[in-house]
Amino acid sequence: MSDKSSSSASGFNRRAFMTAAVGTAVATPLTARAAGPAVTAAPPQDPQLPVDVTLKVNGQDKHLSLDARTTVLDAMREHLGLTGSKKGCDHGQCGACTVLIDGRRVLSCLTLAFAAQGHDIATIEGLADGDHLHPMQQAFIDQDAFQCGYCTPGQIMSAVACVKEGHANSDDEIREYMSGNICRCAAYPNIVAAIKQAAPEILKG
Ligand code: FES
Ligand code: FES
Repeated sequence: MSDKSSSSASGFNRRAFMTAAVGTAVATPLTARAAGPAVTAAPPQDPQLPVDVTLKVNGQDKHLSLDARTTVLDAMREHLGLTGSKKGCDHGQCGACTVLIDGRRVLSCLTLAFAAQGHDIATIEGLADGDHLHPMQQAFIDQDAFQCGYCTPGQIMSAVACVKEGHANSDDEIREYMSGNICRCAAYPNIVAAIKQAAPEILKG
């Protein structure tokens, strides 16, 4: 999904986080040096030490204590019990882990939970309205748009964003903008059909 899942307009982006992190790391020894030999630079923090993180998931604040290297995907699955988002490759290649952050598609296996603080995370668990399925969920059922179902949560989250982005105007466009979500069962024609079914209802609001 590469650049289609990255975000900038929302202020959530990985580069900004890394820049801030690197800036902090560089600033510490410079400050210590300017202050003279009596100041000892703090030892690098053990990344395994837990950090307090608050994530807004499906509209609810979740307070967690995590290894600073924990991804959003692992925070969801291992710490919050939200196992809908799937770990397919864990390397940003398959799209099974797709969630929405501030409405934009994000590969949760490549996104640090720490960096997602202050942003709205939407997972497949938050898509339905009680017992009323989201139009995209219903369309996937109506169109038999899955077989094993492993890729399906990521496909559905990506499909919702694809429609809202205005990229569901033709079969070719849908295929192009859903190309970051791999389906090993090759349910692609049915997935396209599901997106076409759900798009009008999603767009009308
Ligand atoms: Fe994230 Fe495959 S598990 S892209
Ligand atoms: Fe099996 Fe997509 S339905 S991988």
